[in-house]
Amino acid sequence: MLVREGSIVGRGWTQKGGRPHAETEALARAGERARGATAYVSLEPCAHRGATGPCSEALIKAGIARAVIALEDPDPRVNGQGIARLHAAGAVVTTGLCRKLAEELNLGFLLRVTLGRPLFTLKLATSLDGRIATRSGDSKWITGEQARARAHLLRATHDAVLVGSGTVLADDPDLRCRLPGLADRSPVRLVADTRLRTPADARLVRTAGETPTWILTTPHADPAKRALLADAGVETIDVGTDNQGRLDPVAMAGALAARGLTRVMLEGGGTLAAAFLRANLIDRLAWFTAPKRRRDGGRRLTGAGVGQRRTDIPAQQGGANGE
Ligand SMILES: NC(=O)c1ccc[n+]([C@@H]2O[C@H](COP(=O)([O-])OP(=O)(O)OC[C@H]3O[C@@H](n4cnc5c(N)ncnc54)[C@H](OP(=O)(O)O)[C@@H]3O)[C@@H](O)[C@H]2O)c1
Repeated sequence: MLVREGSIVGRGWTQKGGRPHAETEALARAGERARGATAYVSLEPCAHRGATGPCSEALIKAGIARAVIALEDPDPRVNGQGIARLHAAGAVVTTGLCRKLAEELNLGFLLRVTLGRPLFTLKLATSLDGRIATRSGDSKWITGEQARARAHLLRATHDAVLVGSGTVLADDPDLRCRLPGLADRSPVRLVADTRLRTPADARLVRTAGETPTWILTTPHADPAKRALLADAGVETIDVGTDNQGRLDPVAMAGALAARGLTRVMLEGGGTLAAAFLRANLIDRLAWFTAPKRRRDGGRRLTGAGVGQRRTDIPAQQGGANGE
């Protein structure tokens, strides 16, 4: 944000795909009014040449007098150099204002740069007694309309949504954001699928031409099935396996970060979620609890010490509406 004489003269935010950066956007909006202004940024302006040139240089060229920077950029291509350039050009630089807030906002990016993995949010919908699906495996209607709308909003605020092949086989999900006006914010759809069990006529495959679908698998996966999926526009990404022959969550995380993803939401089911929890990769939990108790038993999220407690609520305490 660019401020001159108490008025905001330009706002900007990083565009889809990471470019152009927020500074370039704000400068374009401010035009000549940027001269003598203060730039407030959540992350240190970059010092390296991308598609648009270094943002620190653009700010200097536009004549800003002061920069208030919440957070230094740990990217080795920047790492203090953006601040140094601004200083050298005579701008007054203040750092650390609202640092915690900026860390929170940029956590996905920070994790990618420092740990080589994206931020992972685990989204779970459970009944009051911890069931994530009916006994037959149906999980579609555990929560209500509002919770589903909220989950769609979460999709729009993540780069990608990840499910295991079990969820694809059970639910045939679409995983796009269907909120009015936000359809173009649909994330990349990801499937962890060691044996390429995703059916060629799955909804994710049929719509891969409209919204990117990537399947994480092993180098040993069936080449014929791989070719079939590629014809439909599905990209397969090879990763290493753990000692049980399943895709290694840490390897998956590394492969996704290498492709530029900073925020990934796990949207089911229990087996994959447990693997990511065990690997200590879950940073945020979006847990929707429906005020209902399943009368027919149903599936729990187990295997990671999750959902082990409070799962056997006596009948008189549970809600009356079993699904
Ligand atoms: N309530 C909710 O929030 C929610 C959300 C989504 C789904 N569900 C429900 O969950 C049920 C499906 O459960 P699920 O546990 O089979 O689904 P899942 O966790 O989505 O898929 C499990 C499969 O993922 C593959 N996988 C690849 N790498 C893995 C790894 N490192 N660790 C674990 N799995 C890995 C495995 O198949 P391969 O070995 O073939 O790769 C595994 O069988 C359905 O009934 C669905 O409706 C509930």
